[in-house]
Amino acid sequence: MAITPPSITLRWQSGTNGHLTLLDQTRLPGEFLEIDCHTVEDVWQAIQRLAVRGAPAIGCAAGYGVCLAEPNLEATLNACDYLATSRPTAVNLFWALERMRQVANDAANSAPDELAQRLLAEALAIHEEDRQMCSDIGRHGADLLAALPEGAGILTHCNAGALATGGEGTALSVLFELARRGRKPHVWVDETRPLLQGARLTAWELQQRGIDCTLICDSMAAQVMREGRVQAVVTGADRIAANGDAANKIGTYSVATLARAHDIPFYIAAPTSTFDLSLSSGDEIPIEERAAEEITQGFGTATAPAGIATYNPAFDVTPAGLIAGIVTERGVIQPVSRDTIAQLTEDSSDERCDPQRR
Ligand code: MRU
Repeated sequence: MAITPPSITLRWQSGTNGHLTLLDQTRLPGEFLEIDCHTVEDVWQAIQRLAVRGAPAIGCAAGYGVCLAEPNLEATLNACDYLATSRPTAVNLFWALERMRQVANDAANSAPDELAQRLLAEALAIHEEDRQMCSDIGRHGADLLAALPEGAGILTHCNAGALATGGEGTALSVLFELARRGRKPHVWVDETRPLLQGARLTAWELQQRGIDCTLICDSMAAQVMREGRVQAVVTGADRIAANGDAANKIGTYSVATLARAHDIPFYIAAPTSTFDLSLSSGDEIPIEERAAEEITQGFGTATAPAGIATYNPAFDVTPAGLIAGIVTERGVIQPVSRDTIAQLTEDSSDERCDPQRR
């Protein structure tokens, strides 16, 4: 089945009495199964169990999730609070919910129909803006990597593609844009233990789009770099602090460290909705811990002895000093520092970088 961005990941069906349809990403690549969410609880579950995942996509899903509450102020605000408990790390979730909260508060005295219409308009706007941000990130990132030699190796970790966003992706949008420009990057895909977002999702997306790629286990990245096969690394991010420290899928910090050891530039591609300027550094980013079973019996097969102690942080923080540049929809932040981040994100008409949330 060919990807027709941006609709495969999530879409709202019909008007204010409609529902959210999601591609269940836990079933990929074996099965292309869409699920319908008719309640706020359905959306909470879908986010929590990673049926929909990736920072921008979680934000879009949460926006639509709020539209499934009863159209009154109390139920809407309760839905926002509830959805905020689904996952802790990706700030796009809280950013989107804050936008929904503001719309609800502004429409506090409106009739239910009017409130429902305004909430749905906001959720659709969040999705549409994300689609546009992805496309702009693709352009800026492709400009940045334009000087790479033909057939250059680009390594990515986890999935930051169409499946992770409301559009074409962040890191993968850069690769798709390079391909549209007639370039032929070779993508090295980290499988991304324990939930294999690289193997199951990124490899699938790249294959669908006809992009030349090779899947490796996470532990192989050092050797592949040492062999001179990687000329740049590009990943997404879940939350970027004011100093540029960036949380992304567990293993990203290792990749960034390896890239530095091999003198390979490590880039992050993320929309400004992923910045959390209320946090001074990455030390303050909440890191989600997930169930032990993801390590001990991922996908149903026991791979560790019963009762073994585990630790399963789902994200890690890459220090700003390891990041050569951050590709945003507004341009590339390079070098990455508190000042350059403030310069690019400062725009008083735009509160997306400093959401009041949590
Ligand atoms: O646990 P996941 O699959 O939601 O983690 C996703 C990532 O870490 C992505 O790299 C990140 O959200 C950026 S997606 C554009």
